[in-house]
Amino acid sequence: MRARGDGMSDPRGLHDVTIHRVGADAVRPLRVAVLRPGMSPHASAYPGDGSLATGHFAALHGERVAGVATVLHEDAPDRPMLTEPVSTGTAWRLRGMAVEPGHRGQGVGARLLTRCVSHVLDAGGRVVWCNAREVAVGFYRANGWRAVSDVFELPPSGPHRVMRLDLPAHATTGH
Ligand SMILES: CC(C)(COP(=O)(O)OP(=O)(O)OC[C@H]1O[C@@H](n2cnc3c(N)ncnc32)[C@H](O)[C@@H]1OP(=O)(O)O)[C@@H](O)C(=O)NCCC(=O)NCCS
Repeated sequence: MRARGDGMSDPRGLHDVTIHRVGADAVRPLRVAVLRPGMSPHASAYPGDGSLATGHFAALHGERVAGVATVLHEDAPDRPMLTEPVSTGTAWRLRGMAVEPGHRGQGVGARLLTRCVSHVLDAGGRVVWCNAREVAVGFYRANGWRAVSDVFELPPSGPHRVMRLDLPAHATTGH
C-alpha cells in the first residue's frame, strides 16, 4: 500500500491508529462496506478520485484500514434547499467519510476530518462542504461544521443536509 504517515498515535492510547495519505484503491473497500453495503465496488468510485490534487486518507490499525475519508476540489452545486450558497471557486468536497464499526467513538473520524481539512488548507482552499447523512450531522457539528441546507433525500442513503466548514485565509499546516 502507498502510504505516508503522520507519525501520530491515538492520543487516548486505545488503539495504535495512524493517519496516512493513500491512493484511491486503499479507501474504496471500506467506502463500499460502510456507505454502500452490498453494492458493487464501482458504486464507490467518485469522479475526481484519480486527480493528483485529491486527498485520500486512511486510518490504519496495523495493516487494517479502520477508517477512510477523501477531499476533492469541487464546488457545491446551487440547489434550492441551500440556505446560503457554498460555491466560491475555492471550495473542496469531503466524501467517503467512514469508520469501521469497531473503531467508532474513539476519535478516528475526527482525526481523519482534521487531516482532510489540513490538506485543503495547504492547497489554498477556503471552504469544505459535504452532503452529510442526517445521522452524522452531529459528528460534523462536533467538529465545527454547520448545516447550510434543509433536509433533502439523496437516494439510496436517505435524508441529508449540506454542511460546510469555513477555513481561515493564508493558514497552512506544514503537512
Ligand atoms: C460518522 C462517523 C464517520 C464518525 O466517526 P467516529 O470515529 O465514530 O467519530 P469520533 O469518535 O471521531 O467522534 C468525534 C465527535 O463526534 C461525535 N459524534 C460521532 N458520531 C456522531 C453521530 N453520529 N452523531 C452525533 N455525534 C457524533 C462524537 O461524540 C465526538 O464528539 P466529542 O469530540 O465531543 O467527543 C462514523 O460513525 C461512521 O463511519 N458512521 C457510518 C458512516 C457515516 O455515516 N459516514 C458519514 C457519511 S456523511
